[in-house]
Amino acid sequence: MALFTHKQAGQAVSLPRHVAVIMDGNGRWAQRRALPRTAGHKAGAETFRTIATYCKDLGLDYLTVYAFSTENWKRPQAEVDAIMGLLDQYLHESIEKMARDQIRLKFFGDTTVLSPKLQKLIAETDEITKHITGFQANICLNYGGRDEIVRAARQFARECVEGKCSPDELTETKFPNYLWSAGIPDPELLIRPGGEMRVSNYLLWQIAYSEIYVTDTLWPDFGKEELDKALAWYQTRDRRFGGLSAK
Ligand code: FPP
Repeated sequence: MALFTHKQAGQAVSLPRHVAVIMDGNGRWAQRRALPRTAGHKAGAETFRTIATYCKDLGLDYLTVYAFSTENWKRPQAEVDAIMGLLDQYLHESIEKMARDQIRLKFFGDTTVLSPKLQKLIAETDEITKHITGFQANICLNYGGRDEIVRAARQFARECVEGKCSPDELTETKFPNYLWSAGIPDPELLIRPGGEMRVSNYLLWQIAYSEIYVTDTLWPDFGKEELDKALAWYQTRDRRFGGLSAK
């Protein structure tokens, strides 16, 4: 599959800098194999590893994945525990690998409610990878798009009350500085494996102009070729941002 890189000048649409993914379909993948749902999450964690490394190799700057939403706490305790266990295991294994592979790992969401062990691992991961400037993978954990926007509004209001700013200063440019994704460009491409046509409270502010690619392929089956397909599709898009076609 021919992909245009950032370096190939003159192409209509180069690769996106930032790709966001809703890692959906793990449960169905497992059910189709008569395996427990947790086996699907385990396979999904492996897919994340493959896709993160591939994004970095392709020269993308950011990958943001939805690992656990503010709504996922409603799932059976055993499944919640299994996902947390996988994250724990993943971070343990990744700490040295990320530094070796030069992948900066960040977390979006309120991680203060997670187990002390997981919080410690997150802090260690942050410390070990914070000097890495190339590729960054963001893992959304206990994340909700509405929650993120409300927290941002609350923080801005707090600063106004403290006399640091005034309501009229808030603009569409300034507001994102209060989001978990502060300083990161919005994703140009949102990928949803598993076939569902919805955004599920994911990056609600940031995906305002994202191209949305939905595929029936389930996340554990989403390999490098699937990502190539999504990127090639993205490169056919006419991105108008509310204006008229540049073509
Ligand atoms: C959605 O599939 C998936 C999740 C809620 C969990 C995603 C978690 C992981 C892939 C594991 C840990 C992640 C990392 C980054 C190491 P679903 O269960 O809703 O699938 P279904 O729609 O087929 O039921």
